[in-house]
Parts: sequence; structure tokens; C-alpha cells
Amino acid sequence: MERLTDVSESPVARSGDAGRANDYDRFAEAYAAQTENNLVNAYYARPAMLALAEDVAGRRILDAGCGSGPLSAALRDRGAVVTGIDASARMLALARRRLGDDVPLHLADLSDRLPFDDGAFDDVVASLVLHYLEDWGPTLAEMRRVLGPGGRLIASVDHPLVAYTFQDPRPDYFATTSYTFDWTFNGQSFPMKFWRKPLHAMVDAFTDAGFRLSAVSEPQPDPAARELFPDGFHDLSTRATFLFFVLEVPATAAGSAD
Ligand SMILES: C[S@@+](CC[C@H](N)C(=O)[O-])C[C@H]1O[C@@H](n2cnc3c(N)ncnc32)[C@H](O)[C@@H]1O
Repeated sequence: MERLTDVSESPVARSGDAGRANDYDRFAEAYAAQTENNLVNAYYARPAMLALAEDVAGRRILDAGCGSGPLSAALRDRGAVVTGIDASARMLALARRRLGDDVPLHLADLSDRLPFDDGAFDDVVASLVLHYLEDWGPTLAEMRRVLGPGGRLIASVDHPLVAYTFQDPRPDYFATTSYTFDWTFNGQSFPMKFWRKPLHAMVDAFTDAGFRLSAVSEPQPDPAARELFPDGFHDLSTRATFLFFVLEVPATAAGSAD
């Protein structure tokens, strides 16, 4: 799960039917508002992605699962040429409001073929979205296809150390399993469903898709958050939360993963 400041969550994963799980259309505004300036997203997840991306000036970047577009906006501010894609129309509407008309935004599921040409991008960023997918293979193959030689995929997901604690009895670490979790916004509960996989399975999925692992990162929060969120900062800076990856397309490779 993405940890959200001020969002109450059931402390134990639920095993029942998730119903319409992960329906961001139903809580888009609330999610965007709560993650705009909070500790975990604004002072940890997004700065970490931006730090891994380094200098993005002039780079064509696909923000996969862009949500309301905070990372897209930050990348654009740094000179990137950004395109967004997301499965939630309401999240994209918020992104449109934030980004204006210059950023192409596509409503599409990351499990499907991406609506872009081979090699259309220099980087793909996938912030906190891959863990919604059981099988990363088709999605990573598509991300690989739309990247040119030397292109990068920069991704963040729930840390396995966290994801494998939400169940009693504990789940088999070596199995890919799902778990459900309620997020509560303004007193209303929304079922969320996530997929967890062991670290080696994540790395295997990346390399099977034709990526070379360049970095695995467990960054610290932005130091500026220490004074703004004194209690949360200590907690966040002393436990596993998200795991960040930088993957590269070998520079000599053609645009296809095959
Ligand atoms: C936790 S939010 C992260 C949003 C944004 N990347 C960020 O870091 O602020 C996850 C986003 O992924 C989108 N999403 C989830 N599953 C998806 C899928 N299968 N295809 C496309 N987008 C998906 C959701 O609609 C939501 O906007």
C-alpha cells in the first residue's frame, strides 16, 4: 500500500472480496489533495524519483500511472517533455488541470499495449503503480518497447518488507500474492488490492523484459521534512517503505524487447 498521511487504514489486510478495488475515480480528489504536500509522497516518494532521474532536461518522459500529475509537473519544471498515462479518468482530469494543455495525457491500462511508437521515450517513470499488477511481464515489455536504446525505467513500489507483513498467518515470501486493504477518505472506505512479490521476482521481471538493473535505492526522506513532520520523519527514516529501481535499456539494443 502507499502510506498516506491522514488516511486511516485497517491495520490488518482483509481477505474478503475486494469488490471494485483500486477505483481511483471514486477518490481521485481526496487522494490528490492528501498526497500533494504530505510527508510520504511530497517529501519522500517524489523527491526520490526526481533524484534518481537526475538531469532530465530535454528528455522525453512517459509518466506511467501519472495520477493527478505531481511528478509530471516536477519533471516538466526540470525541462523534460512529459506524457502521462493512467487508468483513471478523474485522476487524468486533475492532471489536465495541473498541467494545462501542453502535456499529452492518455487514458489507458498499463496491462494493455501502450499507445506509443517503439522508442518514443527516453525515460519511463512508474511511481507507485507496478504493485497494482499481478503480472509485470506484459507491462514491462511495453515499457521496454517504447524506450529507445539507453532509455531508463525508474520505478517505485511497496517495499516487500512492508507488503509481506499485512497478513496473519504470514504469507509465503516466495510467492506472488495479493492482499486487500481499505483506504478511508472523509469517512468512506475504498477497497484497494495490491500484489506483492519477492525481490528476486521483481528483478527477474525487469531483466526478462530486457532491462539491465542499474540501481536499487532505499532513500531517506527529504531532510526539509524533519521540522515539518517531526514525528513522522523519525518513523519514515527508520523503516522500509518503498523500494526504488533504475533500469536501463542496453545502449546497443534495438527498440524491441525481442
Ligand atoms: C498511488 S497512485 C500514484 C500516482 C502517481 N504516480 C504519483 O506518484 O503521484 C497510482 C496511480 O496508478 C493508477 N493505476 C493503477 N493501476 C493502473 C493500471 N493498471 N493502469 C494504469 N494506471 C493505473 C491509478 O489510477 C493511480 O492514478
